[in-house]
Amino acid sequence: MTVSVTRLTPTIGAIVDGISLGAPLTDAAQQEINQALVDHHVIFFRDQNVTPAQHRAFASRFGQLHIHPIYPNHPEAPEITVLDSDITDLQDNAIWHTDVTFTKTPPMGGVLVARILPEQGGDTLWSSSAAAYDALSPPMQKFLEGLTASHSIVQSFPAVRFGMTPQAQERLEQAKRDHPPVSHPVIRTHPVSGRKGLFVQEGFTTHINELTAAESHALLTFLYAHSTKPEFVVRWKWRDGDVAFWDNRVTQHYAIDDYRPARRVMNRATIIGDQPV
Ligand code: OGA
Ligand code: MN
Repeated sequence: MTVSVTRLTPTIGAIVDGISLGAPLTDAAQQEINQALVDHHVIFFRDQNVTPAQHRAFASRFGQLHIHPIYPNHPEAPEITVLDSDITDLQDNAIWHTDVTFTKTPPMGGVLVARILPEQGGDTLWSSSAAAYDALSPPMQKFLEGLTASHSIVQSFPAVRFGMTPQAQERLEQAKRDHPPVSHPVIRTHPVSGRKGLFVQEGFTTHINELTAAESHALLTFLYAHSTKPEFVVRWKWRDGDVAFWDNRVTQHYAIDDYRPARRVMNRATIIGDQPV
């Protein structure tokens, strides 16, 4: 089996051919994937055919899987999160975000399988937080070093949209009790590549702890706009059989919400990572 990696932009994204995700993963293939993630931050596999159990088995080779406290879980595999536009309000995926940063040990990665795609639309964007960091001036990089930010589950899962029924309300309340706000460094160092990257995003970051509210707001507004400049972004147009695997430590993503009333269903496995430093 030959594995080939084709870059999609100079900054982020590549297609990986020659690995079947439904079959048991060899150590060699896993190494290729780890290297491709370091080099490209998000990688795409085409023409895959994976059951939810195979999806779980593949992702669990890279670490322990997270069970999402609010999104529905797949009946065949609770570690698989179901993102179904007919069932769940997915507006918060149409915001630049990094998954599950409301925990002390946010995911190292996500593996997303396309299940039902609209005829047009529903593309996903990923941005490189390392490229965004590199493009900041040295004085700004120095200023951000040592700052920390708070991240909250409430920001992306507000009660107005996720507490509609008594049952949903209870699930949300439980999730909030289980996930008090956490702090992470504003600049984190990737544990494998050693690259520094911005680690704040609109999805879950509420404020920078060491600044006034006004300073924090102004700085975050700038950093969000900066982080998602087209120069740091790849846009993926999904086909049936596509699977995306992103390094959640060094990326943000955005699911474009332009396909309604068509239905779009994705399945995600979420691999728990280290505490950011
Ligand atoms: C996710 C997400 C992207 C998409 O799976 O974490 O934000 O394209 N969704 O559905
Ligand atoms: Mn997401």
